[in-house]
Amino acid sequence: MKRIAVLTSGGDAPGMNAAIRAVVRTGLHRGWDVFGVRLGYEGLISGKIVPLGARDVGGIIQRGGTILGSARSQEFKTEEGQIKAIRNLNEAGIDGLVIIGGNGSQTGSYALSKHGFPVVGIASTIDNDLFGSEITIGVDTALNIALEAIDRLKVTASSHQRAFLLEVMGRGCGYLALMSGLAGGAEMAVIPEIPVTPEQIADRLRKSYEKGKAHAIIVVAEGADYNADKLAAYFSEHRERLGFELRTTRLGYVQRGGNPGAFDRILASRLGAAATDALSKGEFGVLKGLVKGEIQSTPLEVVVNTKKQIDPNLFELAEILD
Ligand code: F6P
Repeated sequence: MKRIAVLTSGGDAPGMNAAIRAVVRTGLHRGWDVFGVRLGYEGLISGKIVPLGARDVGGIIQRGGTILGSARSQEFKTEEGQIKAIRNLNEAGIDGLVIIGGNGSQTGSYALSKHGFPVVGIASTIDNDLFGSEITIGVDTALNIALEAIDRLKVTASSHQRAFLLEVMGRGCGYLALMSGLAGGAEMAVIPEIPVTPEQIADRLRKSYEKGKAHAIIVVAEGADYNADKLAAYFSEHRERLGFELRTTRLGYVQRGGNPGAFDRILASRLGAAATDALSKGEFGVLKGLVKGEIQSTPLEVVVNTKKQIDPNLFELAEILD
């Protein structure tokens, strides 16, 4: 291994820069030449491969987003796109690639790996829906942003005796909603994995109102059957059932744009170093993630074919603690 490249793909996540920095600096430390691919798989297809030195990744560990840029590439999903990408890597003399991203990105890593290209993935997505890492880069920071929103909403909700629906990201996964609800002391988390009806949510709000609570917070995952828009539409017709007046806040991309906290910076630094370690040992076609508190490898084939499960005990705990 002499020349490696690194790219970020899919939705950006706080901590991606810390991972890029770790890949670049540990690669240089091994005496390799290190390159960055701009704009994810799109950049791989169009040959946007640039050299990266130690100073190019200076001052980025504390910055959210990704200095390399990211994209969701449709072309890379095709065989033709993948072959173009491999041709560009070969022309640039790259003999190992590190791919930082979530589910879609690691499906791309697996595709390159099946073509025989030496690839190592790094688990990074705010959704925490990627098998092979208990927690992925960006989750902790995104959770803290959601928590801050909950804390602030409670303040204004209490002043007006209101209930709030707070919609958080997560695509088809309820992790961010469940855990921010648990940590924020929300009345309920509505997640795709455990469907509830609007009537059940209304009952919960009504009970909180009858208990004399000054506010109520329902954290809603964007991927739930009843997302915040659908719930708000339903409740505007059944207002009398709630007790509280209801307002809706969608957190949206605010969750993704924060500067990474200590946990994400450290996790990203460790995973970045583990990725170059894997390349140096000829361990290809794997994802580096956190498993039982340790940095471990999971074959990409297993990663892309296994659904990560939410621990139902945490849902129960959130219900009990409410
Ligand atoms: O995967 C991260 C994520 O932020 C999801 O939570 C969200 O559904 C999606 O990306 C939004 O995608 P885009 O940035 O393409 O709009």
